[in-house]
Amino acid sequence: MKQQILADTAAAKTPEQVEQVRIKYLGRKGLVTNFAKNADFGKFSPEEKKNFGQELNALKIFAAEKIQEAAERAAAADSVQTNKHRQADLSVPATGNYKRSGSAHPIAHIQAELETIFEGMGFCVLDSPECETEYGNFESVNIPADHPARDMQDTFWLQNEMVLRTHTSANQVRALKRFGAPFRGIFPGRCFRYESIDPSHENTFFQCEGLMVDKGISVANLIGVMKTLLGEIFKREVKVRLRPGFFPFVEPGFELDLNCLFCGGKGCATCGDGWMELIPCGLVHPNVLHNAGIDPNEYSGFAFGVGLTRLAMMNFGIRDIRYFNSGDVRVLEQFRPLV
Ligand code: DAH
Repeated sequence: MKQQILADTAAAKTPEQVEQVRIKYLGRKGLVTNFAKNADFGKFSPEEKKNFGQELNALKIFAAEKIQEAAERAAAADSVQTNKHRQADLSVPATGNYKRSGSAHPIAHIQAELETIFEGMGFCVLDSPECETEYGNFESVNIPADHPARDMQDTFWLQNEMVLRTHTSANQVRALKRFGAPFRGIFPGRCFRYESIDPSHENTFFQCEGLMVDKGISVANLIGVMKTLLGEIFKREVKVRLRPGFFPFVEPGFELDLNCLFCGGKGCATCGDGWMELIPCGLVHPNVLHNAGIDPNEYSGFAFGVGLTRLAMMNFGIRDIRYFNSGDVRVLEQFRPLV
């Protein structure tokens, strides 16, 4: 039996073969397990039984040891085989997901497009901070502490008394102080408001502020620039309407609404009444020019705040604003990279 075990365990090369050997000898019906039964143990004398028991135990231990050794040899050989397969062959061309490249966020696409359009009209593009002083976000643009307009913008206040800017208008005075008049510039960026989130409201969204200050700027210049902008973005005639609107930093102020591109103006879940509020705008309030050290009797200007996020929704047909900050790759991978 020992000879037989040695031969079988030597011949077993894979874990499966070793397992077969184990079953053959030590399994429930194995040769060693059932050796006593097969040997007619009942007929042995007490002396014979004792010797036989000791021999049988030794045989069990022998079998278990040899099988264990064979199992270890087989496992080692197996892992060498596996690792051989695992070694990367760097000459094999990449397949499937390896070909995926990143893409630019829809907001980045719209922002890049706006920058190109405005640069074409002689505007500079300025970067700006997302945390503002209370003065920058409110007072500089003619919103004093007791002004009801502060309630129009639910604000995240920071512990150091700064705010997460509620609008990119916060840069008007900063830019004018830095560059003086005449000035043409846009300030795209992220804004924050303490809002409940639904398909058309987000607490984190993007705007693009624009500002033009020069001698003799009027509503005609404002309308001209807005028409150029929308014509270039939508690559077609779009319907817009101008309504009076109140914003403390412009006088007069307007709401420029875009006829909804989803429903054609009939009214839908995205727009409500057929019009998307798109570009609030107006002529720069004399107090703002004054805050920037510019004489309102000499210069005038217009300002506008494009809802970049809304514009991206209309342009790409994205019906729910919540996709923008979701980080959902299935949304993002539909956009190409920026080149
Ligand atoms: N800052 C305003 C807001 O976020 C948008 C705005 C309105 C900007 C009128 C302007 C403007 O420049 O003229 O609600």
